[in-house]
Amino acid sequence: MADLRFTPTKHFHATGGMAVLDTVQLEDGRLAVLRKYRVSRLLNFRLRAQFIAGLRLRQELSGHQNIVGSLGFSEGLLPYEIIEFVSGPNLNTIMGRQDDFFKKYRVQILQQAAEALAWIHRHKVMHLDVKPENFLVRVAAEGPLVKLTDFDLARAADDNGPGRRNGTPEYMAPEQFKQKMRYQASDVFAFSIMAYRMLANRFPFSGSSANSALKHQASDKVTARPLHEVCPDVPARLEIAIMHGLEKDWHRRLQDMNAFLQEWGVGSGMPQNSGKRKAVF
Ligand SMILES: Nc1ncnc2c1ncn2[C@@H]1O[C@H](COP(=O)(O)OP(=O)(O)O)[C@@H](O)[C@H]1O
Ligand SMILES: [Mg+2]
Repeated sequence: MADLRFTPTKHFHATGGMAVLDTVQLEDGRLAVLRKYRVSRLLNFRLRAQFIAGLRLRQELSGHQNIVGSLGFSEGLLPYEIIEFVSGPNLNTIMGRQDDFFKKYRVQILQQAAEALAWIHRHKVMHLDVKPENFLVRVAAEGPLVKLTDFDLARAADDNGPGRRNGTPEYMAPEQFKQKMRYQASDVFAFSIMAYRMLANRFPFSGSSANSALKHQASDKVTARPLHEVCPDVPARLEIAIMHGLEKDWHRRLQDMNAFLQEWGVGSGMPQNSGKRKAVF
């Protein structure tokens, strides 16, 4: 239960699928975000339970610099959480700008986003809504600070389904479309789509319509064009990791984001830094 006291401010307001977000000021003067379950969804008990699961998971996963941390939450009739305020746009907005900051730092942004996911994968959780809108970026002269948010669809890593199809179609993996199954490897697929898009300024799977693009994304028969053909300056090992993350058969894909960082050879994926190693099929 959150025992934090706060007063509303007018910095921003957003309404999403499950939550309404407002900035608030804490007693110590800090800005924070109040993320409250939508009143209009009150009678949807399945959704409410899922939202509460997300509040608990965020709490568990707080304490990493690349995660938007929980400052407290309430499971009352209208559940809510108070989370860190990130002064900056989400990654989709930054990507849309294609400005010098984005071009200079996009690989660094990707690495921080990968570290956030590697952290939650080490805690045996999967996010299941990996997309640029769910990474917030603090922009500063010395570089970006990326933070992952929105744990509304997050689940324990062994909660694999089959179940309701959930998530954002443009980032979903074939096993989510076809068998309605989900794994940490599904987060790797979503991250790899996002990474490809950030580097090539286009999605890896396309088509004559949005629907045919999704069909290509879900099909075993369609592979993405090698990234260096559309982004000649992509670091070689990053390309290998991204293409391995876009494997349609999840058994053949990198199994989690720790394996991804290892294949890339950066950060906590470097041998001296690696926490737990996972087998790559
Ligand atoms: N802690 C935060 N600090 C600043 N902006 C935020 C914060 N949380 C969310 N936002 C903004 O609100 C948008 C929606 O938030 P999110 O938590 O993803 O909810 P939903 O997807 O349910 O709308 C984000 O893409 C971001 O632009
Ligand atoms: Mg979101």
